[in-house]
Amino acid sequence: MSDAAPIEHPTRLTAGDFTEAEEPLRLFTAWFAEAKRAEPVNPEAMTLATVDADGMPNARMVLLKGFDERGFVFYTNLDSIKGRELDATPKAALTFYWKSLQRQVRLRGHVEPVSKEEADAYFATRSRMAQIGAWASKQSAPLESRLAFEKAIAIETAKFALGAVPRPPNWSGFRVAPIEIEFWQERPFRLHDRIVFARENMHAPWTKRRLYP
Ligand SMILES: Cc1cc2nc3c(=O)[nH]c(=O)nc-3n(C[C@H](O)[C@H](O)[C@H](O)COP(=O)(O)O)c2cc1C
Repeated sequence: MSDAAPIEHPTRLTAGDFTEAEEPLRLFTAWFAEAKRAEPVNPEAMTLATVDADGMPNARMVLLKGFDERGFVFYTNLDSIKGRELDATPKAALTFYWKSLQRQVRLRGHVEPVSKEEADAYFATRSRMAQIGAWASKQSAPLESRLAFEKAIAIETAKFALGAVPRPPNWSGFRVAPIEIEFWQERPFRLHDRIVFARENMHAPWTKRRLYP
């Protein structure tokens, strides 16, 4: 007989049955809190999907920097590919996968820029090196060599030798305002649980459906 504690199934981590939830934001809050405890690296990492002018999808990881009833916020360079795609087509999908909990959350909706004040406040919390990097990086533009980037960092470091580093005008955040949020929990034998919340617009009430896995 082993004294080791029995391995808990992830569905037991949240008290009660998550499929009984009536509102997605509270459920997301609970799952995200558990992900922060369970995931050793970047629990706030999420895939951001956008489309280009031809409707061709594009996906990449970004970090969730805040969420509330208005939506889910991330920050980036506005001249990057994602920045330009969101400017032209302000709609996006986000997907989280928390491996250690065997959970997925996906959501989609319209996208709006965060306010200047919000972007300034978040930028001010970043490390000085990350702030300088935001000035030095022409994100998603061709880079001739690593040395060229290091030179750009050295130039910006000298420029901002004294005092606070201001937010670059082409660096800010976007908020994805969800009209659909799905919660997926892995279960034995691929008999997974899925529930999806949807609403007509940001002011309409949520409706909930359960989906076949
Ligand atoms: C875990 C992870 C987190 C990332 N977080 C961000 C982020 O918050 N903002 C960002 O601009 N890029 C982030 N990146 C880099 C993007 O995935 C991407 O390479 C970059 O933003 C350029 O994307 P684009 O050319 O589609 O604009 C992250 C990458 C990884 C792997």
